[in-house]
Amino acid sequence: MFNNISTQANKLVSLTRRSNKKSKTKVLSITSGKGGVGKSTLSANIAYLLAKNGKNVIILDADIGLANLQVLFNIKPLNTIYDYIKNSCSLEEVISPTMYKNVSLVAGASGHQYTLQNSSMIFTRIVEDIISLNRYDILLIDTGAGISQEVQELLFLSDNILAVTTTDPSALTDLYALIKMVSIKKDKLLICFNYTLKYETGAAIINSIIKLAQKNKLNRKFMVQYIGNVSESKTISTTNRLRKLFADQFKQDSVTIELELVVDNLILYME
Ligand SMILES: Nc1ncnc2c1ncn2[C@@H]1O[C@H](COP(=O)(O)OP(=O)(O)OP(=O)(O)O)[C@@H](O)[C@H]1O
Ligand SMILES: [Mg+2]
Repeated sequence: MFNNISTQANKLVSLTRRSNKKSKTKVLSITSGKGGVGKSTLSANIAYLLAKNGKNVIILDADIGLANLQVLFNIKPLNTIYDYIKNSCSLEEVISPTMYKNVSLVAGASGHQYTLQNSSMIFTRIVEDIISLNRYDILLIDTGAGISQEVQELLFLSDNILAVTTTDPSALTDLYALIKMVSIKKDKLLICFNYTLKYETGAAIINSIIKLAQKNKLNRKFMVQYIGNVSESKTISTTNRLRKLFADQFKQDSVTIELELVVDNLILYME
């Protein structure tokens, strides 16, 4: 099952990365095996903190059919990725500024069945086109959950992948499935725990996952890098409901400090 990667996607991905080697834009995907673990929340706040660290960031909402970053950023985009795929708007027209300096958004479209239009490769063109602009330091992609073909396509296009998980047993089972899939083609996966009070809890779980991966003889060159944890907090759910970013609204809060450490590590480990 985990070997079932589209060869067509693979071919195009290698072409894409080769043709864009000169661009300064690094692609970072934020993904998860299980849904609802906090990917979009962390993606939006990580984009904000990366921009605070001097990076020019564009964030792409690639959750097919369930777009919600425009809600977190509290904007009503004129165009969505769906319009771009249909060729009814230009690249510049699908990029929306946000209220945060150096953070732009390509909004997703809720309720659309992209796959009816284009069965695969729906994201490759926009990712390649954004890279070709050579304008952004980081293209941050908020993927849907799971290991669908669309998610695989995005992950294999990415220079860096950050998996978000909780300590919930089903989230960990799904994380391992994601690790197996990513390890086929990539050498590294960064991991962040959400809803997790203690840094050490994540570290202990990652150690057991590494042992399991060694026992199961996954790609020897492959490494997982634990980069930090974010606690469960009402600050996060409340600011989300108010369509604001907790990292901006509550700069001194412990969850913002935790996420700042995650972002420091991201900058350190990103290729
Ligand atoms: N650390 C946290 N503490 C409290 N609530 C949180 C935390 N992280 C996320 N949430 C809440 O959890 C819910 C799910 O978060 P989010 O939408 O970011 O998850 P997701 O992984 O993007 O989900 P999906 O897989 O559906 O895209 C939201 O209501 C959000 O406010
Ligand atoms: Mg999401």
